[in-house]
Amino acid sequence: MKAEIALLKGDGIGPEIVDSTVAVLEKTAQIYGHEFVFKPYLIGGCAIDATGQPLPEETVNGCLASDCVLLGAVGGPKWDGLAGDKRPEKALLGIRAALGLYTNLRPAKLYPALRAASPLKDEIVEGGFDIMIVRELTGGIYFGERGFREGRYGREAFDTEAYSVTEIERIGRVAFNTAMKRSRRVCSVDKANVLETSRLWRQTMHRLAEEFPDVAYTDMFVDNAAMQLVRDPRQFDVIVTSNMFGDILSDEASQITGSIGMLPSASLGDGTRGMYEPIHGSAPDIAGQNKADPIAAVLSGAMMLRYSLGLAEEADRIERAVDDVLNAGFRTADIMGSKQGSPLTCTEMTERILEAL
Ligand code: IPM
Ligand code: MG
Repeated sequence: MKAEIALLKGDGIGPEIVDSTVAVLEKTAQIYGHEFVFKPYLIGGCAIDATGQPLPEETVNGCLASDCVLLGAVGGPKWDGLAGDKRPEKALLGIRAALGLYTNLRPAKLYPALRAASPLKDEIVEGGFDIMIVRELTGGIYFGERGFREGRYGREAFDTEAYSVTEIERIGRVAFNTAMKRSRRVCSVDKANVLETSRLWRQTMHRLAEEFPDVAYTDMFVDNAAMQLVRDPRQFDVIVTSNMFGDILSDEASQITGSIGMLPSASLGDGTRGMYEPIHGSAPDIAGQNKADPIAAVLSGAMMLRYSLGLAEEADRIERAVDDVLNAGFRTADIMGSKQGSPLTCTEMTERILEAL
């Protein structure tokens, strides 16, 4: 098949890990006789430096014209002082909204080979865990009305959370359908003891749950969920939650795998066009030093093949290559754990994955 893939390398380690992923995708295309055409566009800090804007129109149009989008990471200390709507992060929200990507799939899986890198005790993670966080991505407090006003204590800032039944239902359906292909458990996370949006969320999820009698449904308050994730992560299969709760819980879930440098994510809408990116950030402290772990980006590339291009066998092959490399004991610095020896560089790890392919 032929596919056009927009590349948003972004800032920090973004360019290094996207380059690794392109190499892996090119090799995969070669093995299976596909043609991938990669088109780079600017986003984030590098776009601010070049054009004055974090998300140039050319980037949005380029992504809209592509079959799918591969993103590295955005942001860094250089742009931290900018006003809210000029920051690199704003570009991420902008591109998610422009492409209608209301679903964010964030798998958090404990790789047996990386057991030592997880901060959790043996008895808690014995047998491993495999969680899929389904985060709502284009609504809630991230996109609600915000501003400044006069309040009880003088000038105040405010952000608002709003969710419609339509938005809750469509993300809920994704969660239930995802669970049907996994262990058939959905836990919806909210703060229904306090928030009106959460009460509507819970009500809507309960109604949906009746449509999916084969899925074991539970709901949980977010504070409890944060605790349960470290107390007993094995109880979870699919977690579905709002934009902000999903942001927070997905960082926690990735940390307990001990390998945030390995976790991919997919942002999807109604069509097949999706955006794929590692969960980790731009890691400015190690940018340009060839130390980054390319695995999260490479696995994001695999998710892209699976979800946007329908190339499941090719995706499996990449994931297997990564497994093989890890099982053979190869490690970049972030996943060394207590392992002795010197870590691989980003390009060395990429080479190992290409060989395993
Ligand atoms: C993420 C990030 C972003 C978010 C930031 C950089 C805007 O934390 O993708 O999780 O909060 O969505
Ligand atoms: Mg986040």
